[in-house]
Amino acid sequence: MAVPGKLRGVVAMDGPSGTGKSTVSRRLAAACGAAYLDTGAMYRAATLAVLRAGLDEQSPAADIVAVATAADVEPTTDPETSRIRLAGEDVAAEIRGVAVTQLVSAVSALPAVRAALVRRQRAIIAEELGGIGGIVVEGRDIGGVVTPDAALKVYLTASEEIRAARRGRQDAKAGWTADPAVTLADVRRRDRLDSTRATSPLHAAADALILDTDDLSVDAVLAELLRLVAERGLLT
Ligand code: DC
Repeated sequence: MAVPGKLRGVVAMDGPSGTGKSTVSRRLAAACGAAYLDTGAMYRAATLAVLRAGLDEQSPAADIVAVATAADVEPTTDPETSRIRLAGEDVAAEIRGVAVTQLVSAVSALPAVRAALVRRQRAIIAEELGGIGGIVVEGRDIGGVVTPDAALKVYLTASEEIRAARRGRQDAKAGWTADPAVTLADVRRRDRLDSTRATSPLHAAADALILDTDDLSVDAVLAELLRLVAERGLLT
């Protein structure tokens, strides 16, 4: 693909898991020389810290908040890698495991955890805007809460079945195997938890462009995103 130009500003990519969000966000950032931030990985790393402290879903919320907000989570902003450090250790593989995936919705529903991570996400975004100049940020509340003034907001959707199948393939690539029925049940469970929590529930920002990816390949979604950033005048 020809180099489209360099991204200026923030592209906010929201939506549930299994929509291809990570893949297309990373590829969009790489294609336009921008930084990339996976905020879900930050919630996952904070959740891993909670597990490592011996806590679980039954633990007092105050204990979970204390550990999750103090966790030294350092994500990469390089779209070419998925590295993320917890207290200096690369935990990219471990945060995709079953234990973290089971607990992350509960941890990320805690307002104090969200406040702490949103603050860090905004600091990272500001730093990248001051440096490389453009960043693609993916998550659940990016266009609505983290960067409401993002230059482009996209909300990716897909049917539950397609998302579960994609999640299964992603897990297999990461070395985790699960029964497809269990993966579908987990997609539904997390959708329910993520969209019904009191603080920043998952939903499309009012000014987000909704893109249904059921019948679109990764290349087709990427082409549409590149068209949108060009149309908004975000490429220099
Ligand atoms: O995208 P993911 O599956 O890696 O996200 C992990 C969890 O983190 C997901 O259950 C919802 C939560 N999350 C969130 O609440 N807000 C974000 N900005 C990103 C993820």
